[in-house]
Amino acid sequence: MELFDVYPLYNVTPVKAEGVYVWDENDTKYLDFYGGHGVISIGHSHPEYVKSLSEQLTKIGFYSNSIINPLQQELAHKLGKLSGCENYNLFLCNSGAEANENALKMASFETGKSRIISFDNAFHGRTSAAVVVTDNPSINAPINLQQKVTFLPLNDIELIIHEIGKGDVAAVIIEGIQGVGGLDEGTTEFFQQLQEICNKNNVLLILDEVQSGYGRSGKFFAFQHHNIQPDMITTAKGMGNGFPIGGVLIADKIKAKYGMLGTTFGGNHLACAAGISVLDVMAKEKLMENVKEVYAYFLQEIATVPKIKKVKGKGLMLGVEFDFEVGELRKKLIFDKHIFTGGSNNKNLLRILPPLSAKKEHVDIFINALKEILG
Ligand SMILES: Cc1ncc(COP(=O)(O)O)c(C=O)c1O
Repeated sequence: MELFDVYPLYNVTPVKAEGVYVWDENDTKYLDFYGGHGVISIGHSHPEYVKSLSEQLTKIGFYSNSIINPLQQELAHKLGKLSGCENYNLFLCNSGAEANENALKMASFETGKSRIISFDNAFHGRTSAAVVVTDNPSINAPINLQQKVTFLPLNDIELIIHEIGKGDVAAVIIEGIQGVGGLDEGTTEFFQQLQEICNKNNVLLILDEVQSGYGRSGKFFAFQHHNIQPDMITTAKGMGNGFPIGGVLIADKIKAKYGMLGTTFGGNHLACAAGISVLDVMAKEKLMENVKEVYAYFLQEIATVPKIKKVKGKGLMLGVEFDFEVGELRKKLIFDKHIFTGGSNNKNLLRILPPLSAKKEHVDIFINALKEILG
């Protein structure tokens, strides 16, 4: 059997990783400024994380959600505390798309309505409801298109008011900072007005923090830069540092019923051990403080690089925009300078998502490589 060939691949085969570095099969060392789509939060193969998962595996790796699993409560308590979202309840699942799928379903259960407002260039995943609120017709199959969604531009509150006024909107889903779309984001004024309009009209506000969450923006969730309280917050990627885990934080006012949501694998022992270890390391190593410090340094240093049009994003979720397409630049960064970066829907933008433990010296390596390539 061969693999179903859906991924265009770079010709690199990583075999080991540590901190912000990855090594390939020829022992070539790469600086990981992409974290496998923003997944690596506390750093590759963090020793405490490895210890915690290994120990958990020798005890119990999995049992279903029909028994008590105290690790789920420990994860929920620690997540509530570190994120400042103690007045939410946690539903655990396995991926970002699944988190969004469940949040959208909850919004429809709760409001009895079915239309969703999403935003131009949004990416929310590939499952049925998540893909339909993703602004990319090429990844929507006919079966997905039965659901009702309206795409609006970011930061146009009048259009939101007009659409919500029609009375059939269950939820607005928005990324804290757009990832795949190219690092655009709502203004504080927009987020605050959006929250107010949703509250007044029985529309639930879902913040997709799958990529922008878990400290990546310098705050635990990117929406916390705007002083709002969404009805639901979805998370995945950095939550497990590579172990598949996702979650929906659901405001206390939304009440659970047995059987309303469910999953076989979500919240299993091993996933919880990964999630707990990530939170413990984030707190112990003050990674959100580190993100702020390294971000300030990045801004200062990137200003010395020629040909850059704009720097977008916050913290260690950054987009460096040029006035040319960056495909060739990314290839040179990987194959000549051994640095991983990402792309986005905006072909002129390099997406930078290093582990939250990256240091100024790693920024220096990236900046010097850019300068050498760009002349
Ligand atoms: C903002 C956002 N939401 C949802 C997803 C989907 O997550 P997953 O690939 O874990 O299903 C992604 C993945 O890139 C994302 O960036």
